[in-house]
Amino acid sequence: MFVFKNVKKLQQHLSSINDDKRVGFVPTMGALHEGHLSLIKKAQEKSDHVVVSIFVNPTQFDKPEDLIKYPRTLENDLKLLESVNCNVVFTPTAKEIYGDTIQSKYFTFDGLENQMEGKFRDGHFDGVGTIVKRLFEIVKPTNAFFGEKDFQQLQIIKKMVEKHNISINIVGCEIFREDDGLAMSSRNTRLSDEHRLAAPFIYKTIKKARKKFKKNTAKKVINWVKKKFKKHPLLELEYFEIADQKTLKTIIKKDDDKRYRAFIAVFAGEIRLIDNIRL
Ligand code: PAF
Repeated sequence: MFVFKNVKKLQQHLSSINDDKRVGFVPTMGALHEGHLSLIKKAQEKSDHVVVSIFVNPTQFDKPEDLIKYPRTLENDLKLLESVNCNVVFTPTAKEIYGDTIQSKYFTFDGLENQMEGKFRDGHFDGVGTIVKRLFEIVKPTNAFFGEKDFQQLQIIKKMVEKHNISINIVGCEIFREDDGLAMSSRNTRLSDEHRLAAPFIYKTIKKARKKFKKNTAKKVINWVKKKFKKHPLLELEYFEIADQKTLKTIIKKDDDKRYRAFIAVFAGEIRLIDNIRL
């Protein structure tokens, strides 16, 4: 497994790979878990060569303390990647990516950026757009793999490649869950024991909401979820929304021709968890 910190060295290595080889790319912020490994497995199925990047991107954090506390486990990550036969790892510094000015570029994604996470995390998707575009320019993969846990991010990246004519195929991968249903996330390692025990309530509730949505209006389901969390002693609901899967616009009236998804963000103590489910 090759590990590069430097853009030029990475690119030299990648250009030595045959032109007709399919390069699969899995961008990450490290603290790798089974969910990441499932993305890598999917990448390996569809590629001749897999590149994983590990970079905690400062511009996508809206709160400085969240950036500081984000788990960093590089040594362990590299061992894990080696064990799954990853070919190349890119672990740049912020200077290598941004130069002297760590700043986002401004993006519009046809309004996708104004929904849900965009409403609650100021500048988040400008940060994501900036880093993903930069990494795409560096790695130039054939396919890039993103988890559906960050479904809004996935839709935004699909929109970015479309709007900027980037010829990279974006592959969405199903949410990987713990046995108790909690969606895997690097942030889960920061949960206290009691919040970790409480957190599967999120998936349990959205699964019940999916069932209720079959026979009830969206408004009824939303109110039901809000009530459930109001009664919960440890979990605080930030939002629960039912939205059109494509536009991410909040549902107004159920339309049989549309496909919907429920999206949720919850605070478990100071840790913010997100999840979503196809309805
Ligand atoms: O999903 C993530 O881990 C990050 O948002 C990404 C795509 C690696 C960009 O920093």
